[in-house]
Amino acid sequence: MQKITIAIDGFSSTGKSTVAKQLAKALGYVYVDSGAMYRAVTLFAMQNGFINETHFDSDKLIANLNTVEISFKFNNKLGFAEVFLNDKNVENEIRTLEVSQFVSQVSEISEVRRMLVKQQQQMGKNKGVVMDGRDIGTVVFPEAELKIFMTASAETRAKRRFQELLEKGANVGYDEVLENVTSRDKIDTTREDSPLTKANDAIEIDNSYLSIEEQYKMLLELAEEKISNK
Ligand code: DC
Repeated sequence: MQKITIAIDGFSSTGKSTVAKQLAKALGYVYVDSGAMYRAVTLFAMQNGFINETHFDSDKLIANLNTVEISFKFNNKLGFAEVFLNDKNVENEIRTLEVSQFVSQVSEISEVRRMLVKQQQQMGKNKGVVMDGRDIGTVVFPEAELKIFMTASAETRAKRRFQELLEKGANVGYDEVLENVTSRDKIDTTREDSPLTKANDAIEIDNSYLSIEEQYKMLLELAEEKISNK
């Protein structure tokens, strides 16, 4: 059976990764969370003091990008690949609200994007990949056979994200999460380099009122149709 490339883009906290992971598993494809790569670079910048609440030394980050090595290693127990930054597992560390607060600024840097896009294209060069992010259908794989654009209201997304963070034991307030979601939307959609935008040939799904199961079934059907038409 011919393999295809599946690009899933959309706003933050639309639940893209949950459905993308399930879809990849059902198809026997590789799942790549491109946001995790931007988060890993952000963590690197934080650890090295290049970014904090009051300053962002993007030149220093750019000068040190050659020392950033990001890799994914499949965890059989979890059933998905975890992210490693310079050989250290950072899967949990990159999901904190602190990293979320700086990640959009780091993602604006063209040098960061160029480096990560190259790696992402390499990971998908043999097809059979489900990748989620912001620019997958527009920049990373403009030739992807199936492109999905996920949306949901900011409040719905903030509620989901807040719940997730609470379950992880984080000490955050809903307003803080909503503020993070809306400010990231703004930076992600208005940045100069590869802003978040729906590709012309992407299928838009508003999942405000859809369960994960419903979204999964919808995507699987679309993917199977594309695969059988190959
Ligand atoms: O999907 P996520 O929320 O984990 O992504 C974190 C941030 O990374 C997001 O706010 C914008 C950035 N990002 C990006 O610019 N391009 C991508 N392909 C994926 C994520």
